[in-house]
Amino acid sequence: MPKKPKKEFQAPKGMRDLLPQDLPYWDKLIAAGQELAQDYGFFKIETPVIEDAELFIRGTGATTDIVEKQMYFVKTAGGASLALRPEGTPGVVRAYMENGMASLPQPVKLFYYGPMFRHEQPQAGRYRQLYQLGLEIFGDPGSVLDAQIIQFCFHLLKSVGLKKIDIHINSLGCPQCRPTYRKALLDYYRHWKDKLCPDCRRRLKENPLRLLDCKEEKCQPIKTQAPASVDYLCDECRRHFKEVLEFLDELELPYFLDSFLVRGLDYYTKTIFEVFWEDKAAAPGALGGGGRYDNLVKELGGKPTPAVGVALGLDRIVELMKKEQVRVSEGPNFKVFLVQLGLMGKKKSLKLFERLYQAGILAAESMSRDSIKAQMKIADKLGVKFALILGQQEALDSTVIIRDMQSGVQETVLQEKVVEELKKRFKK
Ligand code: HAM
Repeated sequence: MPKKPKKEFQAPKGMRDLLPQDLPYWDKLIAAGQELAQDYGFFKIETPVIEDAELFIRGTGATTDIVEKQMYFVKTAGGASLALRPEGTPGVVRAYMENGMASLPQPVKLFYYGPMFRHEQPQAGRYRQLYQLGLEIFGDPGSVLDAQIIQFCFHLLKSVGLKKIDIHINSLGCPQCRPTYRKALLDYYRHWKDKLCPDCRRRLKENPLRLLDCKEEKCQPIKTQAPASVDYLCDECRRHFKEVLEFLDELELPYFLDSFLVRGLDYYTKTIFEVFWEDKAAAPGALGGGGRYDNLVKELGGKPTPAVGVALGLDRIVELMKKEQVRVSEGPNFKVFLVQLGLMGKKKSLKLFERLYQAGILAAESMSRDSIKAQMKIADKLGVKFALILGQQEALDSTVIIRDMQSGVQETVLQEKVVEELKKRFKK
């Protein structure tokens, strides 16, 4: 029988490795995000990447695309129905309730980052394992916090070199005023029922707000004439939304009132927003999105607790940072190159590396190489000022040769004096 060719393994579709050449961007973004979140008074939380599937079904929403089409269900030996988290908010709400955070002084401000999983059709900026940095504030209904979350997004993106940001913002109202809007939307769309795409006909029955999310060409002319939620807000929701916009004006942050913005998750009340790169062609899709969700804690079994939050899509932000040629760390700042020869030299080199490190002198090396020529070539390429050469003889004498890379002048010094000697030379 012919042998079956060996399988070549690949990362699962829509998932990828983050490689050493990419990670300086990720590191810069995550470090900036963590620091800024803490400076804005948020505390870090980590929740499991797998949760009870029902948490997302009830939290994110049973009829949302995220739950209906994109969720990864996990089979367990015990028969529990779990799912890989498609987003972070329901898990953080569960953690808030489960860990008694409702009895802490409110608001409780939490942030997190990590992978989320959505079984979407992969394309530019859309992955099945995606990374988010999220912020959630619990226990305060104030409009100022909606604005603070948006301020954070601008601030973070600016701090990683992305300035051309704007946001789309809308208000979806609350359980008091939403039904009136929903009815107006249904009345309007029913009139056009026969002209709608099959998805919209389904949305009409299951989730009318999502009609405004439709990207189908044939539904666009109908959509542009649809009633806008802001025209149906109750007094309290109107006041709240007006205040949010006033805060943004005060901060001089650019926004666009987008009456078609509905967001793809079911829990939102009042303010919703999405963050965009100004040049939409350069960054397809939102860089982040969020809003207020004053009923979710209660719907998931907690006490009524107002809340607001955002999640930024790190994959998309990193892609933009690369496109915009944002400067990132070029790696360690090597001061010297350690050249070793022979087994004895290698042995002493490891010790010398440690001694230099303790003294704050970072040494590059190529321990696996034996040829002095090859090692000197690397030292040259790195542009270090000095090479330290440690061969058999030097190992025996407890010395090391300091070679000035520019002049080629060499001097032998005792290993125990090398730090002192180098410091003197660096000072010159
Ligand atoms: P979301 O709008 O579903 O909101 O996701 C937030 C961001 O994650 C998006 O704007 C996008 O940048 C990024 N993202 C989403 N799906 C993908 C994907 N397949 N590939 C790459 N990036 C993606 C939420 O997840 C809510 N939990 C936000 C929130 C927090 N609302 C209140 N608190």
